[in-house]
Amino acid sequence: MSQLVLAKLLPDSAGLDQGGELHIADRNIRELVEEYGTPLYIFDRATIVHACRGYLKALSEHYRASGVRVIYAAKAYLAPHIARLVEEQGMGLDVVSGGELLVAQRAGFPMERVSFHGNNKSESELRLALRLGVGRIVLDNWSELELLTRLACEEREGQRPRVLLRIAPDVETDTHRYLQTGHAAAKFGFPLGSGEARAAAARIIDQGVLELVGLHAHSGTMLRETRPYEECLERLLAFADGLYDDCGWWPKEISPGGGWAIGVPGQEEVPGVAVLAGALQAGMERGMGRYGQGRPVPELIIEPGRSIIARAGVAVYRVGARKVTPGGVTYVFVDGGMADNIRPALYGARYSALAVERPLAASEERVCVAGRYCESGDMLIEEAELPRMREGELLLLPLAGAYCLPMASNYNLVPRPAVILVDEQCVQVMERRETYEDLLTRYGEL
Ligand SMILES: Cc1ncc(COP(=O)(O)O)c(C=O)c1O
Repeated sequence: MSQLVLAKLLPDSAGLDQGGELHIADRNIRELVEEYGTPLYIFDRATIVHACRGYLKALSEHYRASGVRVIYAAKAYLAPHIARLVEEQGMGLDVVSGGELLVAQRAGFPMERVSFHGNNKSESELRLALRLGVGRIVLDNWSELELLTRLACEEREGQRPRVLLRIAPDVETDTHRYLQTGHAAAKFGFPLGSGEARAAAARIIDQGVLELVGLHAHSGTMLRETRPYEECLERLLAFADGLYDDCGWWPKEISPGGGWAIGVPGQEEVPGVAVLAGALQAGMERGMGRYGQGRPVPELIIEPGRSIIARAGVAVYRVGARKVTPGGVTYVFVDGGMADNIRPALYGARYSALAVERPLAASEERVCVAGRYCESGDMLIEEAELPRMREGELLLLPLAGAYCLPMASNYNLVPRPAVILVDEQCVQVMERRETYEDLLTRYGEL
C-alpha cells in the first residue's frame, strides 16, 4: 500500500517507525500486541479529538442560521473513556439503551447533554432515563408516547420531561437498504404522510405532561451527499409550520440526525464536514424562508457517529492458517472475524488490510481474509490485495472504529477482543479482553 493511501485510511497519529513498522501515537503496534494480544482494537485519541473539533469548527464557520449542538452518536462506539473524551470537547451524547445510559453515567457525562433514542425503549429504560435526568428523550412511536406520558405522571416532581418527536421524513438516500432509516416504510419515527406525526405532536402539546421541544429525523447513514439533510430540514420545518397554524407550537430545536460518510477504499471521495455545514445553513435558510418567516430559527442539532470515530480505530489480527482451494480462492485466516466485525457479512461493508510489520510491501496476491468463525460468510475482506502473509504475521484493518465492536458477539463462545486508547502520554485499556470465565459465569452452577 502506498504512503498516500495509508495516510487517508489510518488514524492521524499513525506512521512508520525507523524499521518501517506501523506505529500509532509513537507506539509500535507489534509491541502493543505483545502486551495486549490479538485481536486488538486500537483507538487513537488524537483522531477523535480532531474529528470533534473539525465538526465544531466547520459549523462555527459555515453555519450561522442559529445556535448549534453536536451530539456524538454513541452507537458507533461507546466506552466510558470515549464518553469522557467527547464530553471534554463540549459535545452531547446520543444513546439508545439502558446500557449506553449507564456507561454515560459511569463516565460522569452531564445527563442534561444526553439524548435518548430508540424505536422500542422498555419501561425500565425510560424509568432509568427519567431517574438520571437525561436532557432529551426522542419519541419514536405511539406506545412509547403513551408509556412515557404515564411514567412522567407517576415519577415527575414538577418536572416535564423534554422530548423531541422523531419523524420518518420519507427522504430518499443513496445508501445500503439496511442503512436507510428515514423512508416511509422505516421502522423509526412517526410517518409524515399518514398524519400520525401531526396527531402525535398535537397529543403531546394538548396533554402538557411532556415538553415537546423539537423535531428529529434521521434519513440514513454513510451519506455522501448533502441533499437528504437539506430535504429533512425542509420537511421538518414544513411540518412545524402546519403545527404552528394548528396549535401555535414552534420547535426550539430541530435535528436532521447523523449519517455523514467516511472515505472507503475503492469508492468516491466524501466531501469534508465543511460542505455538510454549508448545506445545513442553506437548508435551514431555505426552510425558514418558506415555512418559518418571522419565527425564531430553531437550534440545530446534529448527531455524527461514524465520521467521528471510524478512522480513529484499527483492528489488528494475527494471521493463522492459509488455504488454497481448488475452487480458485486462497484464504488467509485470522484470529477474529464476524463476531468482532459483522459489517461485511451484514451489509457488504468493504475494508482493506495491510501487514503491520511491512505496511508498504507491494501486493503479491489476491486473497480472501476470512475469520475463525463457523460461517462461510465470515469474510472480513472477500478480495484483498496483499503481500504474501506468513502465519504469525499481524494484519491490520483500518477504519474499524465504528459499528464493529458495538455489534460484537460471542458467537462460537469466543471472548471479545481487548480495546485500547492510545496517545503519546499513555495507553488506556478501554475494554479488557473478555475471558472464558466471563463467558462461563453467565450459565450459573449446574
Ligand atoms: C438517530 C441516529 N442518529 C445518528 C446516527 C449516527 O449515524 P452515523 O454514525 O452514520 O453518523 C444514527 C445511525 O444510524 C441514528 O440512527
